[in-house]
Amino acid sequence: MGDEDTELEARLEAQDVFEPPESFVEQANVSDPGIHDEFAANWPDCWDRAAEMLDWNTEYDQTFDGSNPPFFEWFTGGELNASANCVDRHLEERADEAAIEWVGEPTDEANRTYTYADLHREVNEAAAALREMGVGEDDVVTLYMPMIPELAIAMLACARIGAPHSVVFAGFSADALATRMNAADSEYLITADGYYRRGDPLDHLEKANEGLAGVEHDTDTVVVGRLAANGDGFGHDLTETQHDYDDLLAGHEGAEVEPVARDAEDMLFLMYTSGTTGEPKGVKHTTGGYLAWSAWTSHSVLDIKPEDTYFCSADIGWITGHSYIVYGPLALGTTTMMYEGTPDYPERDRLWEIVEEYEATQLYTAPTAIRAFMKWGTEYPDRHDLSSLRLLGTVGEPINPRAWKWYYKHIGDESCPVVDTWWQTETGGQMITTLPGVNDMKPGSAGPPIPGIDAEILDTNGKQVDPGRAGYLTIQKPWPGMLRTLYKNDERFVDEYWREYSDTDSDDWRDWTYFPEDGAKIDEDGYITVLGRVDDVLNVSGHRLGTMEIESAIVGVEGVAEAAVVGGDHDVKGEAVYAYVITEDGYEEDEELRQAIIAGVEDAIGPIARPEQVIFTPELPKTRSGKIMRRLLEDIANGEDLGDTSTLRNPDIVEDIRVSVQG
Ligand code: WTA
Repeated sequence: MGDEDTELEARLEAQDVFEPPESFVEQANVSDPGIHDEFAANWPDCWDRAAEMLDWNTEYDQTFDGSNPPFFEWFTGGELNASANCVDRHLEERADEAAIEWVGEPTDEANRTYTYADLHREVNEAAAALREMGVGEDDVVTLYMPMIPELAIAMLACARIGAPHSVVFAGFSADALATRMNAADSEYLITADGYYRRGDPLDHLEKANEGLAGVEHDTDTVVVGRLAANGDGFGHDLTETQHDYDDLLAGHEGAEVEPVARDAEDMLFLMYTSGTTGEPKGVKHTTGGYLAWSAWTSHSVLDIKPEDTYFCSADIGWITGHSYIVYGPLALGTTTMMYEGTPDYPERDRLWEIVEEYEATQLYTAPTAIRAFMKWGTEYPDRHDLSSLRLLGTVGEPINPRAWKWYYKHIGDESCPVVDTWWQTETGGQMITTLPGVNDMKPGSAGPPIPGIDAEILDTNGKQVDPGRAGYLTIQKPWPGMLRTLYKNDERFVDEYWREYSDTDSDDWRDWTYFPEDGAKIDEDGYITVLGRVDDVLNVSGHRLGTMEIESAIVGVEGVAEAAVVGGDHDVKGEAVYAYVITEDGYEEDEELRQAIIAGVEDAIGPIARPEQVIFTPELPKTRSGKIMRRLLEDIANGEDLGDTSTLRNPDIVEDIRVSVQG
């Protein structure tokens, strides 16, 4: 490293506030610092600004209806269609512009460009095909697909005919698919024969078929021949209820399907996510509020303009891909990128190669990826011209200042604002972050709530904590993008998100407070640093995993009597899965069982939940009342000092476990 670099490094190290670059502010979609006050003073009418970004078939009567808390409604009486908003309305001006730029993993395969006209044609044909299969309005269609354009097309086709989609991440297991299809009573599945991972074709249909075997009702399935098209298919025969995607669409060539006018409050999609109990939660999002939210935040936070080529490296199987690959960007008529593979195949510069080739203007990724990039070194981004980038974003987990600064310097060349965006599957879109053309950035802190969002950090008694102290993040007022309920489980919706900080007897919406189950602190300037989950949910590489789900997978393995799963610090993944396991009498604590446990978790959830360490122990540390001391197990995993353990029912065991983990 040259002297100049060292100097720069030292300056960056010391700097803790960064102003938005002037060149950025000059062109920003939102640059008026008055917007925070303006929205606060005009709540809830400020959200008309978001609704105005959409085309409505019928204008709404009321911006916000808080009459039945916490079942809040937005833009009531309004009607619209999400696919018309993401596709049709752009045809007049942008028919021949790219809507989706798709890059497959194999470098020798042709990339695909879908113009808005192409997208319109294929969404219509797919919608016609789904209808013919019998999919009606409000029927839930499950999408279990890799990162191929047909996934976005299927989502929009469902939206066109008013059928909510439920996307299940392709990396999830067959069991996870079955659980979600059963929970949603979903009788339709769209999947693919496979995809490429690090150079090899992967048999996805086998997994889908295994999942279907566990579905309690009859289903019709559509299969995209992603691999078959390249002659790489695994040769599965389709059954009578399984249809080839291309064949199906060929029967509807040139079809036009009138977009169904959906009530603003009608469900657009379901997304299952992990919670405190073993059962995944079916988060319900609506057509008007959600679409307005994803469009508004794409405009104000990601600064997306129609002429941009915007690149979000998430998978559409997670909420980030829903809001910020598909709905938000397409609602704004921009070009959105989709990449099938991993950042390190065939080499560790793959993302930078894509950014350079497509002249991407924004990059939105996760801190776990940034930590990996840092580890790999600057030689990879340095090989490429990244000067097309105008804005960088992160999402999914806290980003430490060192990783933030690395991203800012080595990817953004100190000329792109970095937005560290806090939000959740449940919030529909971004909630806490700096507006890139307005607010100063502080590495390590997400920033203030976006205009119109009212967040407070409270203690267990509901009192605001002092700046700098850790407390619980709460959202004080409803917002259009919020989840409406948990599918078919209003009671759990109230219990999970509202009971903690609301007066649940009150029918005044002001008495209701949303609790995201995150810990946080706030500074004197109102900047919020989110510290992480306070429930039994892990954040592994930015993915939410419930400890209970993993534990129940482990105790399902023959020979396991009891298990406790906690998160241990991991320098790339953020958190890693540590599984403490008690074996049944007569079973050996051996490598065979360890492998069976790992396989059990992969089968029940997927490889992302794979335990980093399986620790056999004769007992788990428990309180006198018999509760497992998870905090202690976490401290052991993290090599921390354990403090006083004498109040435990079984204090001796702690030292035994500590020695077996820490040596
Ligand atoms: C965490 C992902 C710190 C948080 C969009 C939240 C974050 C959970 C950030 C939601 C951030 C997300 N800083 N923590 N910028 N963004 N989180 O539902 O714990 O997959 O509750 O949504 O991720 O994860 P989910």
